[in-house]
This record gives sequence, structure tokens and C-alpha cells, in this order.
Amino acid sequence: MTAPFTASVFIGTSLDGFIARPDGDLAWLTSRGEAAGEDLGYQEFIAGIDAVVMGRGTYEAGLRFDSWPYEGMRVAVLSTRLEPGADPRVTVYRDLDRLIEGLAESGVKRVYADGGQVIRSFLRAGLIHDLTITTVPVLLGTGLPLFGPLDGDVSLTHRFTQVFGAGVVQSTYTVDS
Ligand SMILES: NC(=O)c1ccc[n+]([C@@H]2O[C@H](COP(=O)([O-])OP(=O)(O)OC[C@H]3O[C@@H](n4cnc5c(N)ncnc54)[C@H](OP(=O)(O)O)[C@@H]3O)[C@@H](O)[C@H]2O)c1
Repeated sequence: MTAPFTASVFIGTSLDGFIARPDGDLAWLTSRGEAAGEDLGYQEFIAGIDAVVMGRGTYEAGLRFDSWPYEGMRVAVLSTRLEPGADPRVTVYRDLDRLIEGLAESGVKRVYADGGQVIRSFLRAGLIHDLTITTVPVLLGTGLPLFGPLDGDVSLTHRFTQVFGAGVVQSTYTVDS
């Protein structure tokens, strides 16, 4: 699938590859992120982004925060169930084709792909350019996975790795074309 934008992943995981506990709990991640004592490059990353694309799961998790975490950003939500127009802060798309069309019409060039299922959809469709994975030192054993089945290998080039406080390790990869 070709798209007129570049998509990036910027996400935190447990060492065994989960992005949330089965009930959506993120305290295991946020507590270690805070212990690392830095913003882990998030502000710099987000400054270069035109739109966030997330799945319904990540959108609904965002609604549970004390304040809307995507203030001032263009937010696209992929969902077959959410009612379009119900939340004026987001635009709902039913599938990847309609999402790509909508973002192209809006002139979006740099996309932040967020949420496990969305990232897996983007990877399978060949839409991801780079991934920054922040790994915190804990094994959860179970939870919502970051990665899953693919139609074939996705070969990556390692760009850099940074070690933060509290054993937090962040690596950036680009997807080989
Ligand atoms: N660790 C981190 O840094 C981090 C980052 C982001 C999110 N999270 C956590 O991850 C959890 C959510 O992740 P998740 O894996 O459940 O998934 P998600 O990708 O956020 O949401 C999944 C939902 O998005 C919709 N969707 C995804 N791909 C689609 C496609 N190609 N076409 C149409 N709809 C599509 C579907 O909604 P419908 O069922 O409505 O069709 C699907 O059920 C939350 O608990 C959140 O807090 C963690």
C-alpha cells in the first residue's frame, strides 16, 4: 500500500513485548518512565508530527486520562464501531484506505501510528517508516501485544539506542525498503 505520508511508531513496552496489561493498566510503564526522570524524547518526536493515528482502544484509553492527552493535535481514530462526529476532537475512519485518503486530503506528511492493532495493521500494509521502542525492565507475562503475525519478515536497520535511568532502554529502527 502506498501513502503520501511517512508513519512512525513511538511506544513503550515491557521486555516481553506488551504495551498494556489485559485490563489496560499502564502503571508498570508510567512509573518506570517517571523514574527515568526524562521525557524520553517524546516532545521532540511529537514536534515533528502532523497527525496521530490511533485505534479505538488507544482512543478510549486517552479518554480515561485526567485531561485529553492530544490537545492541539490532529487525531484520526480507526474504528469500525465508533460513531463519526460524536467527538469533535477526532476524525473516525472505518479502514486504512479511507484513512489514507483523508490524511492525503488534509496534507498530512508525518503520522504517529499508535495502538497495538493499528501498528500491526500499518506494518502489514508497509506503511511504517521507523519505530522507536522504549523498553522498561519488567516481564508482564500477559497483556496487549505490540507485535503479531506478519505476511513476511519486516527487515529493520538499527539506528541508535539510548539507555535512560531506571534501566529504560530506547532503540530506534528504520524499516528497510
Ligand atoms: N505502551 C504504550 O506506549 C501504549 C501506547 C498506546 C496505547 N497503549 C495501550 O494499548 C491499548 C490499546 O491497544 P490495542 O492493541 O487494543 O489497540 P488499538 O490499535 O489502539 O485499538 C484497536 C481497535 O482499533 C480499531 N482498528 C485497529 N486497526 C484497524 C483497522 N485497520 N481498520 C479499522 N479499525 C481498526 C478496531 O476498533 P473497532 O473494534 O471499533 O473496529 C480495534 O478494535 C490501550 O490499553 C492503551 O492504553 C499503550
